[in-house]
Amino acid sequence: MTIDVFAVEPTAIQLHWRALAPASHTIDVGDQSVEVHGDGGPGAVVVEGLPSGKDVDVRLDDQFVASATTLTPPPGNLLAKVATIGDLHFGETTFGELPRYRSNSDPALAHPAFCTSAAINELLAWGADVLVVKGDIAHDNRRAEYDLAGELLGDLPVPVVVIPGNHDGGDHRNHDVDACLARHGIDLVRGVDTTDLPGVRIVAFDSTQPGQKGADLEPVTPAVTAAAAEAEGGALVVMHHQLMTTPIPTYWPPGVSQRAADRFLDALGAAQPAAMVTGGHTHRHRARRHGPLLVTEVGSPKDYPGTWAGYLVYEGGIVQIVRRVSAPEAIRWTERTAGALFGAWGRWSPGRLTDRCISHPWITRD
Ligand SMILES: [Fe+2]
Ligand SMILES: [Fe+2]
Repeated sequence: MTIDVFAVEPTAIQLHWRALAPASHTIDVGDQSVEVHGDGGPGAVVVEGLPSGKDVDVRLDDQFVASATTLTPPPGNLLAKVATIGDLHFGETTFGELPRYRSNSDPALAHPAFCTSAAINELLAWGADVLVVKGDIAHDNRRAEYDLAGELLGDLPVPVVVIPGNHDGGDHRNHDVDACLARHGIDLVRGVDTTDLPGVRIVAFDSTQPGQKGADLEPVTPAVTAAAAEAEGGALVVMHHQLMTTPIPTYWPPGVSQRAADRFLDALGAAQPAAMVTGGHTHRHRARRHGPLLVTEVGSPKDYPGTWAGYLVYEGGIVQIVRRVSAPEAIRWTERTAGALFGAWGRWSPGRLTDRCISHPWITRD
């Protein structure tokens, strides 16, 4: 029975487990203590109130099980909180190959619905000021799928920015996604959309190409860089596709190839070095730096490890955190999907802790 560290944050960590014996357990992290109830299956818990930039030991029922180092945040006050979810794939009822897992043959009761709903509850409880949805809202670009998504996203207590993915009119083309979402009061981002919060400008843009799985950044790059350059603090640039580090894809699905990705990042970094870029599409977690920029990929709430991302905006930078969706129905499902591709999915998709939780001080021109 093991408990692992899934997220480290400036004042909290998230712990998760594959199985915890059916009983009440005490988890101590540093000076903080929480009670959790094991049910024999997977679970997760966030332990808050920790000091920043400190090593803490994790004890389960007085036994040492793990250690972690909380993040040191960038300088200055915490100004805003932004959450993202992506790759929702409403309409999907199975996940993976070798083996293929089925949650429920009714799309309204299947994993995209219960995982997305749980993720939204958890990110709202975390205190998100704005939610950005990073594309692949539907699995097959169909009106009934957007109706399921629209019911969840159309009536939230915070502003919601929704960008399309390739499943929303790229290589999956059935219905008019803009019209389908408009029925739920959602105005899908076309081109570039900006949302200004204290300390940060969210620059969300449409990277899809009609009829294509991949991305074309060329037409939208000038508008993205101009919008980022005008940010009063830093810029959080959000897109669907991932920016690859190789000229030829070495994994599925391909995103923006290295040359086009580097052109985009060079232009963005020159226009606004105080920026980070986050994408999805791969349903996995990765992070790297490109010049002054932090570049990340974040997974989906609906397949292992089953996540959403939070961005803590400080005067001097930004922190990305990635948490597992921990509602019992969601985590029981996502834990099953770790077995896809003979278990390779469970090892590949989470990345390392440093791919998920990162403190990034802005690099400025002066
Ligand atoms: Fe996707
Ligand atoms: Fe995608």
